[in-house]
Amino acid sequence: MIACPSIEKRVIRKHYNLATPFYRVLWGRHIHHGYWDADESPRVAQDQLTDRLAAAAQVAEGQAVLDVGCGMGGSSRRLAAQYGCHVTGVTISTVQRRWAAAAAWRHGLRRQTKFLCHDAETIDFAPDSFDLLWSIECTEHLFDKAAFFRRAAEWLKPGGTVAICAWLSGENVNEAQRQQVYDVCEGFFCPSLGTSNDYQQWFRDAGLVVERADDWTDRVTRTWEICRDRVNRLAMRPVAKMLDRGQLIFLDRFQTILDAYLSGAMEYGCFIARKPAAN
Ligand SMILES: C[S@@+](CC[C@H](N)C(=O)[O-])C[C@H]1O[C@@H](n2cnc3c(N)ncnc32)[C@H](O)[C@@H]1O
Repeated sequence: MIACPSIEKRVIRKHYNLATPFYRVLWGRHIHHGYWDADESPRVAQDQLTDRLAAAAQVAEGQAVLDVGCGMGGSSRRLAAQYGCHVTGVTISTVQRRWAAAAAWRHGLRRQTKFLCHDAETIDFAPDSFDLLWSIECTEHLFDKAAFFRRAAEWLKPGGTVAICAWLSGENVNEAQRQQVYDVCEGFFCPSLGTSNDYQQWFRDAGLVVERADDWTDRVTRTWEICRDRVNRLAMRPVAKMLDRGQLIFLDRFQTILDAYLSGAMEYGCFIARKPAAN
């Protein structure tokens, strides 16, 4: 795991409160990578990533889902609309909570979705509350990932599933690669990035059985070429600077993350783990 100790939780919250409209304009309804099979549009690629994770998790009709780090509610709505799930979304951002709730209402999904503004590292749910714990690109922002997975495993019903997509540090990186990962952590407000092996160990330590640990790096990297080109084309930097230069540092780090993927300093992982069924 590679850590960036200067990151603070209040700054992560502020970042998502401020940057969410930028993400929406720059990228779309999801704040996560696209998954490309061929030359799909970014919008299709974003939905494909969600659907790939849902397929890997074998999402079933009517499941109770916890969407950790739900952003603008893109995954939550898709799981509710396409899979008939009942979804509780949690975000650290008040802006995102309101955004997600309003979008669910507009799409007629109010009864199937609920959005909470809370820190996932301190929120609590009753044991055996959910069939599926879903999280796309949020665990990067957690300070004690091992402790989070231990608590989250309690919230799952026996036989329940954990489905995670996460930015990863590569295994056995050299000094230059370590610096690339550090720069990404700093630019995107991640207190640390774990390796694939770290995640698998955290799952096992939480009593979960790892079913899949897939490397999707080659399928998702194009995301950053598109974002970099869009930032330049849309001249977003001057607007960002007027708002809060420090908070929008990520706009200047798209090439950094692209370089980190291409050098092997970073990977993109998809994980499925199950809680053993009760005897
Ligand atoms: C990269 S965005 C991903 C959003 C969403 N999963 C998606 O794919 O569109 C990261 C999300 O994690 C949330 N987040 C970060 N730290 C959090 C925390 N401690 N508790 C809850 N949510 C958190 C942010 O508010 C944001 O919604």
